Formats: sequence, structure tokens, C-alpha cells
Amino acid sequence: MHLIDLITRKRDGGRITVSEWREFTEGVALARYPEYQLSALLMAIFFRGLDGEETYALMDGMLRSGGRLDFSGLGRPVVDKHSTGGVGDKVSIPLAPMVAACGVAVPMMSGRGLGHTGGTLDKLESIPGFNTRLSMAEAKAQVERLGCALIGQTGEIAPADKTLYALRDATATVEAIPLIAASIMSKKLAEGLGGLVLDVKTGAGAFMPQLERALTLATTMVDIGERCGCPTVALMTCMDHPLGVACGNAVEIEESIDILRGGGPADTREVTLALGAEMLVLARVADDIGAARSMLEDTITTGRALEKLRQIIEAQGGDPRVVDDPQGVLPRAPEQLLVVASQAGIVQRVEPRVLGRGIIALGGGRTTMEDTVDPSVGFRVLVRPGAHVSRGTPLASVLARDAAGIAAGEACVREAVSIGDAEVTVPPLISHRVTGAGTEAL
Ligand code: URA
Repeated sequence: MHLIDLITRKRDGGRITVSEWREFTEGVALARYPEYQLSALLMAIFFRGLDGEETYALMDGMLRSGGRLDFSGLGRPVVDKHSTGGVGDKVSIPLAPMVAACGVAVPMMSGRGLGHTGGTLDKLESIPGFNTRLSMAEAKAQVERLGCALIGQTGEIAPADKTLYALRDATATVEAIPLIAASIMSKKLAEGLGGLVLDVKTGAGAFMPQLERALTLATTMVDIGERCGCPTVALMTCMDHPLGVACGNAVEIEESIDILRGGGPADTREVTLALGAEMLVLARVADDIGAARSMLEDTITTGRALEKLRQIIEAQGGDPRVVDDPQGVLPRAPEQLLVVASQAGIVQRVEPRVLGRGIIALGGGRTTMEDTVDPSVGFRVLVRPGAHVSRGTPLASVLARDAAGIAAGEACVREAVSIGDAEVTVPPLISHRVTGAGTEAL
């Protein structure tokens, strides 16, 4: 097979066959093709798209290019969750131990922050000693022992996707729905799952801001999961403002522990319970969503979920005392400032992208994968769109390493939080549920 033929055909609107995708992805993993040809093919796909069969074949080829976790014989259902990411999205951290405490195995594989979106791995690594770089064999052994591992993508998983994703990043071809869907699902399905729940964000801070495109992404991923024999459900959740109060790394671990103690912000708790309930139903340990929610709430009231998190942290080399005394164990920013409203009115917007870029300015995020992250910095965002404020009402606190960070952080809060007179319509926290059977507005 000559790659030039596939490029030409795709450029002219033709189809690539299942066997050609297989050969192509094998070749990508073996570094057989020059990057200029791969880039040309990616751009042709960006403009011409892929149909359902091509998207599945690309995903399948990328999945087969690497290793897979095998949990057959585990004797427990294996389910995971994936979020398309945003600002303040720490849901994986309380969710994984809650679901694992219900007897479901959760091999949770997460990513790092990049651009305005945060990453679960960076958040976890703010716990002193916590190691997210487990091999597949280590992750498997931990899931067998504790029911959960919180890890990063190893080089063993979907190496063809790794090559293509890096090229997409450098060639402005990331935002193609079939490429995104195939990329995400090739990594998730390598976890050997019996079910998958997707949290597809929509709104200003989402990877895919428009609802229509986010719904298409959700449907494409659900179709891939179902076709692969992995029952998949997607919830469309709001990223028009940050999720919860804490935005940063250590500060989000603290909020995650609050959730497991029965506190935390209502929106974060609700998204965690909604996604967790779908996971328990897919795992068939609960008959319906109501029963699943009760089981999850019980893991909090009995302390079993917090205990599970402690075990996971200890197993992965972290300091388990963090669950009892987060403020004493987590790195703390030396400087803090409470930013207050300079006028009375109604909060119109709390812009997640502005706050996400603010975290980068404070040193807590990345513009390239090589950047290092200061775990201690970030924001506590204290208002939501629609809130009525007076002059002097606290809007957010800035956590920074020095006076320059405080100044940058304050400017960012003032840009992100707009106050006006108009009444505000707040979008629903969870707007749609997408399954193999179709899309339901909630
Ligand atoms: N995340 C991924 O893993 N792949 C994409 O293509 C986009 C987001």
C-alpha cells in the first residue's frame, strides 16, 4: 500500500477500506511513513471527514497498535469514565473510589493539563509522593487488589494514536470529530472495559463549545463503544462556567476530599453522582439510576469511599494522611488574595477559559507538554452566573507564589467575572443523555 494513494483518495472525497486502515495504523506504529504524508492525510480527513465504518476501523487499528489490559477472570465488572475536560473538573478523583467501593473495578486512565484545561494526573501528583506512572502490569495488579488504579497513558497503549495526536496538535487538525472520537476511544477501549461512561462537556470552556458538535462527538463515541461490545453512555454536562469552587491542582484535591466527606460544591457532587450512577448500572451492580445513587451516597456516609481513596494513594506511593488533613499535607501557595466585587449587580458570566489561562499565568498549567506545573496555585471561585452580588461581595480567592502572581490572578478574576443588570438564564448542569438507543434531553 502506498500512502500517497490514500491521501489522494481521501483528498478527492473517497473512502479508505477497513484493511487499508489496519495496514495504515500498523505502519504508523512502526514509524514507516514520513510525517509530511501523515500530516497531509490528516488534513484531508479534517476536510473530507470519515464515515462511521472508517472511524471505527481507524479506532480499531490504533487500539490494536498497542497492548490492552485483560481483566477476564477478575470476577468483577470493569467500568471507566472519560471526560472531554474543562476547568475545575476534578470529578474522576472522588468518582473512582466511590465506584470501586461499590465492587466495580475502575482502571482509571487520565491525562495531563494542556492549554486552559486541567488534567487529573497533575492534580493527583500534587499529593506528595503520588506516582501516576504505573506500567500496565502494575496497574492491572493494583486493580485486582484494590479495585482501582489512577494512572496515566503508558507508551504501551495505542502508540499509533500517540504519533497521530502529536501531529494533529502541530498541524491544526485536532478539531475533527471522527479523529477525536477514534483517538479517545482507542485509549479507553484498551483498558479492557465492560462499560464506559463519557462526560462530554459543552459551553464556553469545553473542548467542543457548541452543543450540536458536542452531541455529534458523543454519538460518534457511543457508536464506537457499542460496536466494540462495550456498552457506552454519554452525559452532556455544562462547562459554561468552572465546575465547583476549586480550580488548580492541590486545591482540587482538597475539594475532592471534601466531596468524599459529604461536603463540597453541589454541582461537582451532582455530576459525580450522575456519572457514577451510570457506571454502576452499566456494571449491573445496580438495577436503576435511583438505586445506584443510593449505593454511591452510602459509600460517602459510611466513609468507604474515603478509605478506598486512602488505600489507592498509599498503594501509589502518596502520603495517605492527605485524606485526614489535606491542608497540612498538600503544597500551599504562599500568597492569597480575596478579590471582591467592585459594583453591585448580577453575575453575568464566569469565563472558564479566562480562569484556565489564569492558572497557566500563575504557573499551575501548561502551554506545552514539557512545562512543569506548580501544584499550589489556582483559584477558589466563589460565585456562579446568576448570583446577586453587592459591592464588596467576595468573587474569588487567588492562590499564588508571589506578588506578581497575585496581580495577574486578580486581573484574571476581574476579566472572567462580569457583573451587569440583566437576569441570567443558567444552562442545565446535565442537558442530555446519549446511548446506543438515541439521545434524550434531560
Ligand atoms: N483527547 C484525546 O485523547 N484525543 C483527541 O483527539 C482529543 C482529545
